[in-house]
Amino acid sequence: MKIGYVQFNPNLLKIEENLKRVESLLKNIDADLIVLPELFNTGYTFKSMNEVKNVSEKIPGGRTTQFLIGIAKKHNIFISGGISEIDGDDLYNSSAFVGPNGYIGKYRKVHLYYKEKLFFKRGNLGYPIYEIKGVKVGMLICFDWIFPEAMRSLALNGAQIILHSTNLVLPFYQMASRVRALENRVFIIISNRYGKEINGIEKNSFTGGSQIVDPAGIVLISSPKIGDEVKVIDINPDNAKNKDINEFNNLMEDI
Ligand code: ACM
Repeated sequence: MKIGYVQFNPNLLKIEENLKRVESLLKNIDADLIVLPELFNTGYTFKSMNEVKNVSEKIPGGRTTQFLIGIAKKHNIFISGGISEIDGDDLYNSSAFVGPNGYIGKYRKVHLYYKEKLFFKRGNLGYPIYEIKGVKVGMLICFDWIFPEAMRSLALNGAQIILHSTNLVLPFYQMASRVRALENRVFIIISNRYGKEINGIEKNSFTGGSQIVDPAGIVLISSPKIGDEVKVIDINPDNAKNKDINEFNNLMEDI
């Protein structure tokens, strides 16, 4: 299975511009499964509730989910990416997952980072698992990484590949993801953004360094801290099914 990610620097509040950039970055894509960053269509550094509400969309049905479905059909790929979701009066920091046959499902970020708590509700969908081409996948969003239970929940439910959309501001996950992969024996696709965002008194600097880690904790491919990148690697998802450390120890049964 060819899995990959897009790394780029979304332009704050410029949805159409960001969709065009993703469309252009993926114009020659040859892959089965692609992950985009957290909030890839809107950027991250919001300064007011109104600002976030104005760029939030329904999942499914909204502009960006429809755009992703178009990309999935055109290139015959599965793709996930971060969207600010509106559901009634509530906003969620979500990821939509779609494929060549349309909408598949969504995940709502459980562990909100810093001032995200001013705008978004905590995710209330748990950690859903989806099956594509006989392979089980699950989504996480950025700061979820620091709570090991999040990825563990996905792994205990059979996830072989973790689709991890990020806007990382701390420098740790490029290292810590190797442990998460190893302790759960899963593949992790980290699609991170790069660049700086300034919005009034709010500012953030994102760490790039997107990467794919295998179930042995080995970084298979990675990107620099800055720069647009689309990277794909061919993996065998079955390698995530063997949870034996040796003939006496099993990562899922010994707990
Ligand atoms: C983060 O969760 N976007 C830092």
